[in-house]
Order: sequence, then C-alpha cells, then structure tokens
Amino acid sequence: MNGSSRTALVTGASAGIGAAFARHLAAEGYSLLLVARRSERLEELAGELSRDHGVRCEIMVADLTDPKTPASIIDFAAEKAMDIDVLINNAGLSRNRSFAEAPWEELAGEIQLMITAVTELAHRVLPGMRERGRGYILNLSSIAAFVPPPKSLLYTAIKHYVLDMSQALDMELKPQGIHVTALCPGFTYSEFHDVMGTRDEANRLPGFLWQRPEEVVREGWNAVVKGKPVCVPGAVNKIIGGTVRPLPVRLQYYLGRSMNPFQ
Ligand SMILES: NC(=O)c1ccc[n+]([C@@H]2O[C@H](COP(=O)([O-])OP(=O)(O)OC[C@H]3O[C@@H](n4cnc5c(N)ncnc54)[C@H](OP(=O)(O)O)[C@@H]3O)[C@@H](O)[C@H]2O)c1
Repeated sequence: MNGSSRTALVTGASAGIGAAFARHLAAEGYSLLLVARRSERLEELAGELSRDHGVRCEIMVADLTDPKTPASIIDFAAEKAMDIDVLINNAGLSRNRSFAEAPWEELAGEIQLMITAVTELAHRVLPGMRERGRGYILNLSSIAAFVPPPKSLLYTAIKHYVLDMSQALDMELKPQGIHVTALCPGFTYSEFHDVMGTRDEANRLPGFLWQRPEEVVREGWNAVVKGKPVCVPGAVNKIIGGTVRPLPVRLQYYLGRSMNPFQ
C-alpha cells in the first residue's frame, strides 16, 4: 500500500517511537492524524511534516486513559473525512513500581491506555478497512513480553496481551486484506525511561543494547508491509527474545529477577 492519498493514525506521536513513525509515514506520503496529550509537541511536528513532505497533518490532543477517547478519535477522523488505512497503536508508558505499591487508579489507567484503547481503536478502524479490503494495524508490544521482570509486572502482562492479541487478529483478518503486526522493541532511545524514572539506570546500560527509534520504525514498518505478525527489531533483541521464550518458566522467573536493571 503506497502512502499517497492514504491516512495513518499514530497514537503517542509527541515523542520517541510514535514521532519517528509519523516522520517515516509522512516521508512515504501518508496523510496523518496524530494523537497525544502535549499539544505544542504535536503542533510542532505537524508543522514540520506538512512543510517537509507536503502531507496533510491533523492533530488531536487527547488522553488515552479516558475511556471516551478512542471513540472521539474515530469521530474526529470522520469529521475531517479521513479514512484510516494505517493504525499505529503506539502510546504507552511503564512505571517502576510493583503491583502492590501502585494505586489502583494508576494501574487502571495503564490498562485503559495500553489494552482497552489499543483494542478499541483496532476494532473501530476495522469497518472502514474491511469495506476497502485493505489496512495495516501495528501494535506496540515490547521485548518485555518475552520475559517477566518482577517490577513493571503489569507492563509485561500488558505487552504480552498486545503480542497475543495482534497475532490472533492477524490470523482472523489476513484473508480480508488487513495485516496486524506486533512490534516488540528492546531498549530504544526515547522519553520512555524519563517517564519511568529510570534514566540513570538506563544510561548505565551498554550501548549495544540500544536502538534509535528510526531503526525500530524502519524494521517495524518493513514487517508491516510484508505482512509479518511479529517483529522483534535488532539482532540483540532477536537473540534475547529467541533465547528466553522457549526456556522453562522457572528459569524465566530467575532471569527476570536477577537481570532486571531497574530494581
Ligand atoms: N523506549 C523503549 O525502550 C521501549 C521498548 C519497548 C516498547 N516500547 C513501547 O513503545 C511505545 C512508545 O514508547 P516510547 O519509547 O516512544 O516512549 P515515549 O518517548 O515516552 O513516548 C510515549 C508516547 O505515548 C504518549 N502517551 C503516553 N501516555 C498517554 C496518554 N495517557 N494519552 C495519550 N498519549 C499518551 C506520549 O505523549 P504525551 O505524553 O504527549 O501524551 C508519547 O507521545 C510504548 O507503547 C512503549 O511501551 C518502548
């Protein structure tokens, strides 16, 4: 699917991987609908993309922890006469707090942001995609889905859900011309570890573990257009994912406890 006259919806476009996706898709000629909470960031990016690539770029300032947001985004797209051909379900965060220590409201917000909103947006873009007989959905999972660390436990479970749900959806929708991919990055330079409060620990990790968001996006988008249901970008992450997943659960627990750099 070529970008010209097609529209991509990118959530979490104000930073990191989402902003890199927006730039990548604008360069391919996609019109864009960008969503996040920070309006100035979105306005600045939209200005840059329309100027540099001559594409249409609409922004919607919204909080995806609000259960009403996914429906509002789809209504907004309809008002602007934008048919969503590509959905990049990217917005997300992790907190370095154990399940028992976190207030319920915080956990409920994470579930809404990274499970319910992701699933609802996928569901709400489908009628249009099915009508047109084509569409791409990319959901941000994580290498965290391959190993359970003790803290950020809910995050690991959430990203596991995203991985499984993407694979199941891809199987269901492929015959209708719609491809779904779970992108599972490892450590990626972005604001993620600032939000998580683990910047100092992250800065101490060796450079070979890290990827730039542009590399993650390039590999992720290639997987999407090739119709691959799962993409683990980068050689190091492929080795980690490929080695840990087949291990017995007890060993995964041990590795999760002993190798988590953020505990
Ligand atoms: N960086 C990594 O090491 C890494 C590794 C694996 C997976 N991932 C996944 O990649 C995705 C992108 O993360 P990133 O690394 O690019 O992090 P980032 O730089 O912190 O960007 C996160 C984006 O999500 C948006 N967001 C967060 N909460 C939101 C909310 N309640 N409503 C709307 N938007 C919200 C943020 O925008 P506003 O703050 O403006 O709302 C921002 O645009 C996430 O799903 C993350 O789990 C990241």
